[in-house]
Amino acid sequence: MTHAVRAATDADLPAILAILNEAILNTTAVWSLTPATLEQRRAWMAERKAKGMPVLVSELDGAVAGFASYGEFRPWEGYKHTVEHSIYVDASVRGKGVGRALLAALLDDAMRNGKHMMVAGIEAENTASIRLHAGFGFVEAGCLRQVGRKFDRWLDLLFLQKQLAA
Ligand SMILES: CC(C)(COP(=O)(O)OP(=O)(O)OC[C@H]1O[C@@H](n2cnc3c(N)ncnc32)[C@H](O)[C@@H]1OP(=O)(O)O)[C@@H](O)C(=O)NCCC(=O)NCCS
Repeated sequence: MTHAVRAATDADLPAILAILNEAILNTTAVWSLTPATLEQRRAWMAERKAKGMPVLVSELDGAVAGFASYGEFRPWEGYKHTVEHSIYVDASVRGKGVGRALLAALLDDAMRNGKHMMVAGIEAENTASIRLHAGFGFVEAGCLRQVGRKFDRWLDLLFLQKQLAA
């Protein structure tokens, strides 16, 4: 099994879209209720790149197995040293180290970019994501109760954060 993480290109957009839409339709990892379109993803990737923010894909035996990115935490200047990220792994290859490889690469990138703090907003029952982040030293920063709703139930948003630089 060969595994590599690299910068995403436009050619990866259909695979990124398929992975995201599976998560939208079947999970509470993302609180969108309707599938995304290729054009929305294209605009999202172009905006991230224009702002110097990474979009990464993980390739497992040559096929896109997951993607990850970070962007502004909040759009005001005073927050510019803090980023918020997201990671999605294809449902068929979860639990094989893809998420760990993507998060390690994102952290490297954020440190090289001089960012100070990385924030993850995770649905409070998403044990896999919480454990993944805890393994990299993310610590709990608070939980916003019932701020989301999907699949006819209220969702809590747990914030984790990791300091990248002194
Ligand atoms: C959460 C997610 C990104 C993890 O990626 P992954 O490739 O499946 O995880 P990895 O194989 O790299 O595992 C890394 C660590 O995560 C944790 N983990 C992964 N899957 C887990 C599971 N099903 N239950 C508990 N912990 C789990 C473990 O701590 C694991 O380390 P270990 O193998 O040493 O125990 C992936 O499951 C996913 O894409 N889920 C749907 C979308 C999502 O929830 N994204 C995150 C939104 S905040």
